[in-house]
Amino acid sequence: MNAVSSRPILVTGATGFTGTHLVRALASAGHPIRVIVRSAAKAGALPAGVDVRELDITDPAAVAAAVEGAGTIYHLAAAYREAAHRDEGYWQVNVGATRNLLEAAVASGVERFVHCSTVGVLGHIAHPPADETTAYSPGDIYQRTKLEAELLALSFGRERGLPVAVARPTAIYGPGDTRLLKMFKMIANGTFVMLGKGDIYYHMVYVDDLVHGLQLLGTHPAAVGEVFILGGEQYYPLKTIAGMIARQLGVRPPRVRLPAWPFQMAGSICEKVCVPLGIEPPIYRRRVDFFTKSRAFSIEKARRVLGYRPQVSLETGLRLTLDEYLGSGHITAGPVAALA
Ligand SMILES: NC(=O)c1ccc[n+]([C@@H]2O[C@H](COP(=O)([O-])OP(=O)(O)OC[C@H]3O[C@@H](n4cnc5c(N)ncnc54)[C@H](OP(=O)(O)O)[C@@H]3O)[C@@H](O)[C@H]2O)c1
Repeated sequence: MNAVSSRPILVTGATGFTGTHLVRALASAGHPIRVIVRSAAKAGALPAGVDVRELDITDPAAVAAAVEGAGTIYHLAAAYREAAHRDEGYWQVNVGATRNLLEAAVASGVERFVHCSTVGVLGHIAHPPADETTAYSPGDIYQRTKLEAELLALSFGRERGLPVAVARPTAIYGPGDTRLLKMFKMIANGTFVMLGKGDIYYHMVYVDDLVHGLQLLGTHPAAVGEVFILGGEQYYPLKTIAGMIARQLGVRPPRVRLPAWPFQMAGSICEKVCVPLGIEPPIYRRRVDFFTKSRAFSIEKARRVLGYRPQVSLETGLRLTLDEYLGSGHITAGPVAALA
């Protein structure tokens, strides 16, 4: 873990799901923290004492001022959850803002730059498990721009002497996540429909395990210049995960299955109509890809080089996540009666 230094640790995307967990972990270890956020109004959930800088991450001068004096940077901000972006929006945030941060990090002599990429840069995994030697094959604009950003970060390591480490998380879940919340909710109320057979693999990582892995990338000498897949201990067929969630909820496992291709077509049409109007499409290709693209990875490199060891089994992680969803009222306890 980071030795407590007087130079602040800078986190981007700090008001996002993973960023909030990372900032809490760093703050509880006593590190001075600075965060870059696009809306300070959302920073209320961050620990007291965090230095909040509200700025447009695509503005190079504002980014340079916020980076000044930082020791380590964890760059998590990304255009990710919203599907209403035009392609330029993904390029501006995922690549342009990363370039701004990398340039500023070189100029101010940052000690470690942890760039958060994604296993999505590998696209569909036809021959599981994939690892860090698997060829890139991004499948959509998010994955293409994340790949471009990852390559950019690595080039700053090679050519500009910046101590860069790249994390490629698998699917992140845990308390506070609103992405898989949708799946939990639909399984809870019996409206979850499996597109396809559900036999593609899905590889999840509990957010605390990921946060621990990111901190290893931020501190371990052997992380510099390297890429690490950070996932949970195991991957499972999607239908197995849906069944595990149903069991935890006390409801019947989803049984309705539909072919995926009509939804792929519908997603494509919805995106074409909605995105130019800046409207979040009700269905989009990446949502359908969730059911059709296999994602299964080896975490052996992070284990061997960094000593990364995920601590939270999927069963336990789903339980902890569900407890938070129930406690916060995101899901009501009602469906538990559905088996009766
Ligand atoms: N979730 C996953 O399953 C997954 C898997 C692999 C990799 N990743 C990567 O992991 C990182 C964290 O993911 P997450 O799930 O925690 O994402 P998240 O909750 O969507 O957080 C993304 C953060 O980026 C910020 N952001 C987005 N657009 C921005 C902009 N124009 N200017 C400034 N900040 C902006 C968001 O700000 P607001 O808080 O204001 O919205 C948010 O804080 C991302 O780099 C993502 O690509 C995620």
